[in-house]
Amino acid sequence: MRPDPHSYADVDQPRTRSIDLALRVNFSRRTLEGEIALHFHEPAVGNLDLDTRDLRIDSVTSLDGAPLRYELAPAQPILGSRLRVTLPSRADGARIRYGTSPAASALQWLEPAQTAGGQSFLFSQCQPIHARSLAPLQDTPRIRITIGSARFTVPSQLRTLMAAASKGREPSSDTEAVDVFEMPQPIPPYLLAFAVGDVTPRELSPRCAVWAERPLADAAAYEFAEAESMLRAGEELFGPYEWDRYDVLLMPPSFPYGGMENPRLTFVTPSVLAGDRSLVSVIAHELAHAWTGNLVTNASANDFWLNEGFTVYAERRILEALYGRDVAELHAASGRHDLQTALDRFAARPELTRLRTDLEGVDPDEAYSSVPYEKGYLLLRKLEEVAGRPAWDRFLRAYLGKFRFQSITTDDFLQFLETQLPGLAARAGALEFIDRPGLPGDAPQARSARLEALRSGGAEPRNPTELLVVLQTTAPDVTKLRELDSRWDLSRRKSLELRHTFVLLQLRAGMPEGVDGARRVLLETGRMRYLRPIYTELARRDPAAARRIYDDARAGYHHIARTVVEAVLKEQSAER
Ligand code: BES
Ligand code: ZN
Repeated sequence: MRPDPHSYADVDQPRTRSIDLALRVNFSRRTLEGEIALHFHEPAVGNLDLDTRDLRIDSVTSLDGAPLRYELAPAQPILGSRLRVTLPSRADGARIRYGTSPAASALQWLEPAQTAGGQSFLFSQCQPIHARSLAPLQDTPRIRITIGSARFTVPSQLRTLMAAASKGREPSSDTEAVDVFEMPQPIPPYLLAFAVGDVTPRELSPRCAVWAERPLADAAAYEFAEAESMLRAGEELFGPYEWDRYDVLLMPPSFPYGGMENPRLTFVTPSVLAGDRSLVSVIAHELAHAWTGNLVTNASANDFWLNEGFTVYAERRILEALYGRDVAELHAASGRHDLQTALDRFAARPELTRLRTDLEGVDPDEAYSSVPYEKGYLLLRKLEEVAGRPAWDRFLRAYLGKFRFQSITTDDFLQFLETQLPGLAARAGALEFIDRPGLPGDAPQARSARLEALRSGGAEPRNPTELLVVLQTTAPDVTKLRELDSRWDLSRRKSLELRHTFVLLQLRAGMPEGVDGARRVLLETGRMRYLRPIYTELARRDPAAARRIYDDARAGYHHIARTVVEAVLKEQSAER
């Protein structure tokens, strides 16, 4: 039986318990070459179905080297190619020699000119289903694995960082070195992550550091200085931090997400370097995943809201603990704005606006939106409001304790909720959020005196977060926008959160300077949160400009971002 629509993994077959990896990183060919050893929970016989994408399989053997029969099926568009291995009796694992493709969907290879430090850079992004392009494995979050050892052979002037514990570096030749890691905590395969580049650390506290290319290291250390206090706030709220260290790696601009919660080593976009710590909620978010997502994990992409909805909720609790209720409410208000954009985008595909989805035959990268984040947040907030905070906080602790290091479905959550707080789900109308499209009319609303004052124009924004909330309620009126720009210098702000919101307003108001502002944003970042809305708006108003800018910017985008932008450009030209 295959319980995950995005994996060939079969629950009746042996389950991988741990893996060993040994890979040589070849920058000139853009490949990884090497092997993976899979160790099973229990000895088994018969078929073993693994996920692969664009891999060249060289050999499959038992752990002690006896050749095994295998068959690589033709590639399917979303799933990739099933690798079926025939296991002899009492097999305790398998060893596979293989190579990756230069087009591996989990990898981005950057030229020296595309980085801040002028050295080659490589990084992985495995969530949701790209780990299979790095290595043949059971690529479903239901099957958690530890890493006995991971060995990366890399050019010696570069360094490998992995979302794992470092075991040091061994010299291997004049020009290459081997970086060694292990991961004792069991993780879903989408959390496999590494990067290779010329990066340097800045200590933030005994258990936190930030890694960045040299020219950005000081700026990053300033921006993320609050990591340790966030970690403490998280532990107060949700219990012990189970992952030892918490480090942050500042990624090149092409990184397609705001952040990625790779365990022990959050990957974060350089677009958060606003210079004033105004975008550190991204760190609060990725850190919160240490509990919600990494400790308690969605069983498949259908339950993605269990990862992201809980994490947005946890992120705002951390923000509230550190900076107060008003700040958390501002973030909730701005999240509500993002949710509306997503609901509008999926007007023709309402099934994607449920929390519990059925993504059989759908690429999870295509279903990605703010819905699981912000609608999920609103459901959890509703449950909190109906239960009362003390009871709800006890539940959260119990939930994290009960399902730690497990992967669960929405039903597992609902059943446990019913045992702990009987009747709460019904009183809160939880199933309306979970199984119906759109947003229930009685969804909670962000509320605070400060928010009211800002929205009514009775108060001037005092900081970037307040300014953002004001912008999000501003109508696209030319005079008003000119006034705001001269007052707040919006078109020259470093913060892309502010600048992209302003550029969208300029475009909607039909202001020609919007196109130039859009161009600067689109060349500066590859973060999809900014690319999607700006290309959408631009393609609607000035498709030739959208095309032109994309032609110039494309080389600096990750292939996931390229796919998104190309779909936007195509859609808009079809609508015209
Ligand atoms: N885990 C996500 C990023 C992700 C989701 C990558 C699905 C691939 C597939 C990460 O934690 C995230 O939510 N990032 C947000 C940060 C924001 C909510 C603060 C982003 O990238 O915008
Ligand atoms: Zn997240």
